Amino acid sequence: MSRSKSGYYLALRQIAKVANSAFGVRKTFNSIAKSTTKAMQADGCRISLLDSKKEYLITVGAHGLSDLYLRKSPLDAHKSLPEILDGKVVVVPDATKDERVQHPQIAKEQRVCSILGAPILEKEETIGEIRVYTREPHQFAEADKSFLSSVANISAVLLNRAELRQLLTRGYKANEKQAKLAQVPQSPTTSLRPTEFAHPSEEEFAKLLDFYCIEWLYEPRSFPLRWQNGEIAEMFTPDFYLPELNLYVELTTLKQNLITEKNRKLRQLKKLYPEVNIKLLTKNDFFKLLAKYGYGPQGKAKVEGVSRVLYTHSQIQRRVRTLARHISHDYAGQRLVLVGILKGVVCFMADLMQHLPLPVTIDFMAISYYGGDDGQVVKITKDLDSSITGQHVLMVEDIVDTGMTLNYVLGHLSAQNPASLRVCTLLDKRARRLINVPLEYIGFEVPDEFVVGYGLDYGGEYRNLPFIGILYPELTKDSETQ
Ligand code: IMP
Repeated sequence: MSRSKSGYYLALRQIAKVANSAFGVRKTFNSIAKSTTKAMQADGCRISLLDSKKEYLITVGAHGLSDLYLRKSPLDAHKSLPEILDGKVVVVPDATKDERVQHPQIAKEQRVCSILGAPILEKEETIGEIRVYTREPHQFAEADKSFLSSVANISAVLLNRAELRQLLTRGYKANEKQAKLAQVPQSPTTSLRPTEFAHPSEEEFAKLLDFYCIEWLYEPRSFPLRWQNGEIAEMFTPDFYLPELNLYVELTTLKQNLITEKNRKLRQLKKLYPEVNIKLLTKNDFFKLLAKYGYGPQGKAKVEGVSRVLYTHSQIQRRVRTLARHISHDYAGQRLVLVGILKGVVCFMADLMQHLPLPVTIDFMAISYYGGDDGQVVKITKDLDSSITGQHVLMVEDIVDTGMTLNYVLGHLSAQNPASLRVCTLLDKRARRLINVPLEYIGFEVPDEFVVGYGLDYGGEYRNLPFIGILYPELTKDSETQ
């Protein structure tokens, strides 16, 4: 292989030109990976960024490696050549025999032999890395290392550009929030936000996750499902990965009757990768999710009234008394702070506290509602009046649906170091859970329907009903025609 100085000069000139172009982030980094591969006469190149927790390496650009990187992405930053994280240039003479390589078997199958990796540094901190792969054994020279480090430097400069920063907003928001809570300096690394989503519903879902400060990665990994003659014949790429929850989410926009094929793929995926946690959100699920905030086709629906009573007033009262008995038993001899989120919880909180023969104080929080706007995050519009540090806190909820609200609020409350923090919810809409928040006390498990009454509202109304009823069952049926 002749890696001439003039070859490197020409490659850097090309890379600088691309870096200064109006290309989107993926196209830019794919092009850099291609120029790097060619200049080094290698067989492939991969450019990755660290996620905001510095746990995963997310591919932002690659060349000549499709099967290889798709199969093993996202890489665990601590298991795969961790010295790069420490800011070092790393040479792997033979990836199939090197214990620093996370997937030596895949390296063997893909005929990857030597690897040269360089960190992408921002103010001496590693924010990503670039790796070059060769199929034949290769000794990398000093000139190769310094060329790759130069490409890494250009990549770092690119990341500093304003428009790329915008692509990384989600991670910054999470960091800002954490920094505020924990009073720690902000970390500059972030998760990657793609320029384009395959479908508007994915973009809307991403906004919703952003709103609740849930970190996400878009299509970070493909799972091979079937092989033919040693080649991958079928793959499945879930739309989202939520690293904090170790959860993949597939959002399908297909009509209900066409999702059979998708279900088949999901079953196959679960069979081949039993450790993978994946959730399918159908179009109908998604519309229901948006309807809660008055968005999407179901959000604009006219409502005729309550069609069916789910729990009568006396059934609710009986259940509340039973819950209160369990709580009193568990907290016997202790003081308890009941915390509720306004406004849905008012009826439940009022009834529950009257049946607790314990020294109890109550406090309320209010949080802003998802408005569908870009860059918007959930805000606490009313915080607790008193400190909960060192206190036993019981979060009282009206209903837990996806779990996103509760997940956010629990994060906020636990940052204040209460002695204990548990949750009591009157209703558990488990079928729609996205985030598995721990629920200690549950009143009723409700079906996947929109319910109102006993504090729960639709568009601000129906809270005053003394029972819990189902609002508009016709909309929870198939709305795939929209
Ligand atoms: P989550 O964040 O998806 O768990 O949603 C929780 C919040 O959504 C609750 O506190 C309610 O304000 C609202 N919500 C969810 N499902 C219903 C419902 O069926 N009726 C009324 N409000 C609901």
